[in-house]
Amino acid sequence: MTSISLSRRRFLHAAGASALTISLMGRITDIQAQADSAAAHAATLDYHSLAGQYSLAPQVSYLNHGSIGTIPINVQQAHISYLQLCETNPWLHMWGGVWDSGREQVRQQAAEMLGCNADQLALTHNVTETFNLLAQGLPLVIGDEVLFSSLNHPGASICWTHQSQRRGFTIKQFNFPLVDVLNYSVDDIVALYAQEITDKTRVLVLPHIDNTIGLRHPITELANMAHAKGVEFVLVDGAQTFGMLPLEVASSGVDVYATSPHKWVQAPKGLGAAYINKKLFKSLQPMWVTWGQERWHGSVRVFEDYGTRNFPALMALGDALHFQAQLGAVKKLERYQALWRHTMAKVDATSGLVWKSPRNWDLSGSLYSIGIKHAKASDTAKVLFEKHGVVVRPFDDPQLNSLRVSPNVFTTEAEINRFCELITQLA
Ligand SMILES: Cc1ncc(COP(=O)(O)O)c(C=O)c1O
Repeated sequence: MTSISLSRRRFLHAAGASALTISLMGRITDIQAQADSAAAHAATLDYHSLAGQYSLAPQVSYLNHGSIGTIPINVQQAHISYLQLCETNPWLHMWGGVWDSGREQVRQQAAEMLGCNADQLALTHNVTETFNLLAQGLPLVIGDEVLFSSLNHPGASICWTHQSQRRGFTIKQFNFPLVDVLNYSVDDIVALYAQEITDKTRVLVLPHIDNTIGLRHPITELANMAHAKGVEFVLVDGAQTFGMLPLEVASSGVDVYATSPHKWVQAPKGLGAAYINKKLFKSLQPMWVTWGQERWHGSVRVFEDYGTRNFPALMALGDALHFQAQLGAVKKLERYQALWRHTMAKVDATSGLVWKSPRNWDLSGSLYSIGIKHAKASDTAKVLFEKHGVVVRPFDDPQLNSLRVSPNVFTTEAEINRFCELITQLA
């Protein structure tokens, strides 16, 4: 039994004393014990056997974990059990408080994986929600500028454009030079952002790993540079990193780190988490308000005050976090690096394919862009899926015309080889 599973049990048992509560806690503990034991088993498997812990169809080669993750079977089963338990008495589970301590335990687990305190972490729905909260709730006025690059995802960009039209602050979006990025260093990236900052820039928004070419932005160096130049808030979109990279967000120097565990944490869809530091917390107005404003006054929970929430999914997030923790952050990263190196070598050796992502591992992750020459990327992706079951994300942008590959730890080298060979055949 692991320390996390023990602490989860202790927490839940400490939560209530009535016979009914104890019997419910017992059922929750049973659900978690089953999920924990499957997670412990998964941690002992080699990456090839780990694929058996998921329910991907045998004909599917899933190289698109960056779009949406696939949930381990034990987490799916825990989720179903929480749903069934909820339906034995919906009022009790949603409003009777029996899952309140479980929710706080999930917050604690997520905070541990992100590297922050639980009281700095809001449990939201996704990254898009957090950026909408920021665009609506930060005190920006006419003359203030919000800066981001073309690598920003729409979920972290469109809300600023929308709000700027209503409130009069300015948006500055610059084109990230996709062609040069292959051989960029940390200093090059910091210099690129630095030259765009003006004395009007109050907010800098950037992805930790972007969803197009998979550049791992040096967030600490960027946050230090931006703050030194007078930028008040550095806001990071961590949709592609939570569960992929080991993280220490509280000491990274950023003001907000927003993420969506339905990608690399492989949690139920529609759950988010946002680290909000104390400085920004004081300036931010909530986007949704109901009875929680009074109850949670002074706590980051005021940003998750959206009324009825999906408790069964939230509880299963705890099991997903536990599963990922058991696999080990450093071990996973080593596997991602090995797959990245293998894919880059294979692409370099295959005529008709062009590597379009950074070649420096410190600026990379498990998401990369492979340019194709012979056909439109989206047409190729369609054929790859419909005829061969290979799932990748196409980008038709003329500078890229690429297929984005985002493997998980259990993706095999053979799948990567097959993907490259299929494209050669299609050409
Ligand atoms: C980098 C990045 N940011 C934001 C998002 C939006 O995520 P969500 O829909 O979970 O808010 C995505 C989704 O693919 C993404 O890749």
